[in-house]
Amino acid sequence: MKLDIAKFDVKSLDENNIKEIKVRLDELYILLEKYDNAYYQNDDSMISDAEYDELKNEGLALEKILKDYNASINVGQVDLFGGDSSSSAEKVLGYDKIGKKVGAKVVKAGFSKITLPVSMLSLGNIYNEEDLRDFVSRIEKDLIGKKFGKDFQVIAEPKIDGLGFSARYKLDEKSGMMVYDWASTRGDGQVGEDITLNLKTISDDILPKKFKAPEGMTSVELRGEVYIDTKDFEELNARQEEKGEKVFSTPRNAAAGSLRQLDVSVTAKRPLKLFVYTYGEVNGKNSFDGGDSEAVNYWSSQDEFLEFAKANGFAVCSDVIIEGRSLTFDSSSVSELLEFYEFILENRYKIPFDIDGMVYKVADLESQFKLGFVARAPRWAMAHKFPAEKAMTKVEEITLQVGRTGVITPVAELDPVNMGGVIVSRATLHNFDEIDRLDVRVGDVVLIERAGDVIPKVLEVKLDKREEGSEKFVRPEVCPVCGTKLARKKDGEVALRCTNLNCPAQILAKLKYFVSKAAFNIDGLSIKQLESFYKKAWLKSCVDVFRLGQYRDDMIKLDGFGLKSVEKLFASIDASRKISLDRFIYALAIPQVGAATSRLLAEKFETLDALKEASFNELVSIEGIGDLMAEDIIAYFHNEDSLSQINELLSEVEVMIQERGADVNAENPMFDKSVVFTGTLQKMGRKEAQEKARELLGAKPQGSVSAKTDFLVYGASAGSKLKKAQDLGVITLTEDEFFEMVEKYS
Ligand code: IVH
Repeated sequence: MKLDIAKFDVKSLDENNIKEIKVRLDELYILLEKYDNAYYQNDDSMISDAEYDELKNEGLALEKILKDYNASINVGQVDLFGGDSSSSAEKVLGYDKIGKKVGAKVVKAGFSKITLPVSMLSLGNIYNEEDLRDFVSRIEKDLIGKKFGKDFQVIAEPKIDGLGFSARYKLDEKSGMMVYDWASTRGDGQVGEDITLNLKTISDDILPKKFKAPEGMTSVELRGEVYIDTKDFEELNARQEEKGEKVFSTPRNAAAGSLRQLDVSVTAKRPLKLFVYTYGEVNGKNSFDGGDSEAVNYWSSQDEFLEFAKANGFAVCSDVIIEGRSLTFDSSSVSELLEFYEFILENRYKIPFDIDGMVYKVADLESQFKLGFVARAPRWAMAHKFPAEKAMTKVEEITLQVGRTGVITPVAELDPVNMGGVIVSRATLHNFDEIDRLDVRVGDVVLIERAGDVIPKVLEVKLDKREEGSEKFVRPEVCPVCGTKLARKKDGEVALRCTNLNCPAQILAKLKYFVSKAAFNIDGLSIKQLESFYKKAWLKSCVDVFRLGQYRDDMIKLDGFGLKSVEKLFASIDASRKISLDRFIYALAIPQVGAATSRLLAEKFETLDALKEASFNELVSIEGIGDLMAEDIIAYFHNEDSLSQINELLSEVEVMIQERGADVNAENPMFDKSVVFTGTLQKMGRKEAQEKARELLGAKPQGSVSAKTDFLVYGASAGSKLKKAQDLGVITLTEDEFFEMVEKYS
């Protein structure tokens, strides 16, 4: 529970006050840690920025009270006149975690940049045996007449889950030594952060700072991965915890946090290690460019490169032995590669550091030169990732969430479990049919899966571990918040909904959605504030957000609000009164209509009036809108309640006519055409390219390929979408061809 900070007076804090503050701070530490982990580990914002800031500021204020209190005790102790009551009090220590962290963040801002002489690339992915066979046969095809095993070999290396780095050495003519010059992180692949001093702290038997220059070598860039051993990671965390400092969620996270420290003395104390596995420039030349490379003077294959690095004192993972086998393996057949992959996967837990897959590289340089690169990845190498992480844990409780459309989602509250370093304590159960299918019960041991950024889910119940007397989960009949009877919207629909449009949980979820970034984008209305304004009946429906002005004076008097934040809030509300049509449509929360569909609708109809009149046929003619969605859209615009809600909103806000980018040349081939982007683009991310297509060519970017797709633009490692597009006879363009088109018509 949020504390009323104003009630604490540092001069007269009593034991109860201190206890209250400590309890709340402990609670805040857990919450903030959870949100930080979700954000930094899973790219998942569990709460809005404003809500996060609110918690952080509350924590800072409480920490400050304790700090002032501690200082007041000091004063008491040096009071020569004695008799000060505070001199008998004890200091409250260890309650400064948030303050420390805020300080640390500021420091991080100041790394200088290094432009990498040769880009640091990424790798395409392989997921199964078929992909691996495709990879090998594509190479055989490209290396005309050459066969895997006979004419070229593939080396398999572990994919280390750390941070890429590049370290440059240059010749010191006097001593004839190659001397450590600078080091950089991978950054965006072209420009990284200067970590010269940080990497320098790594011991010489892992990263020598000089080595004897081979004949003719004037400079070399050695590249690899910085990591922390799993055991060292645990010890580091134990130490951090003891000191009351940040505990890291994964070894990778700890390595990143330790390396990217402006205060190098901190890096020096951390147990960082590294492996070298590739190179960049050699003698000022791009070593991947067959015509130019000078790397061939020193090694002619990846194996020889690893030998070179090892001979000069660098740590390489071919040296690590597990069950009598090296972590790198030269192979001459797909089955050998798969056998090695399985071996490493099985013995993964015996490896002292985290790896997240294997990397296969065509070994000899001449073949690599012939194969070259596609966009940001080499054609001669691929990453074979390990499957999603699974874990077993216990279901403590099954809770119910009420969404903005009233849909009830059951959630398994779990005994927290560490999955690849991330603490997981909840998993979605999707819906009640899923609970029945799995027969999940409170107290059950379940197998859960967490794949990438996806919300963890329950895969199966371990029935042999079920406790006696466990009870089958009973579907709720009424809404957990308002008690209204639950129902299905249509026969056959899986979701159970609360049908009470006035259900507080639904209204709050709607309000939250209405003010969210993709809708009206109003800053300063956290869920807490929405809740409190709702309770005061200042917000009864979404349009009330624009009528909050009448409560301005009362608002200023509220706890934790104040004049400044109230002013900020109203500035944000006023700025949102002019809104583009697509955001407006999104904010209406029409069932099934998300941000992408809202944009499609806005672009097609251009005005709200036109959209209101849209016919079923007009709607389904839009790529990306199916029959069911069209029905929902029509139903929405033919409903009295929604129309009056729209009219009320229009009395407060102005919806702008949708612009399709200022002056698009309608003669261009992509104008009004649907286009799909796939694969890895070199020049920019896919989202940005979609934006360009929309803004500059008036195209309509889509997510998936179908018979209605007009163009497909593909980058590196394009997979099934490209094949499907070719099969359907969709026009396919390379990334370069697409940008030529942009150049020509914009
Ligand atoms: S080779 C052109 N080898 O994985 C060569 N990369 O997804 C590209 N990585 O950014 C890299 N272990 O940071 C290579 N044995 C290994 C690796 C490895 C980890 C990382 C690397 C890269 C990412 C590519």
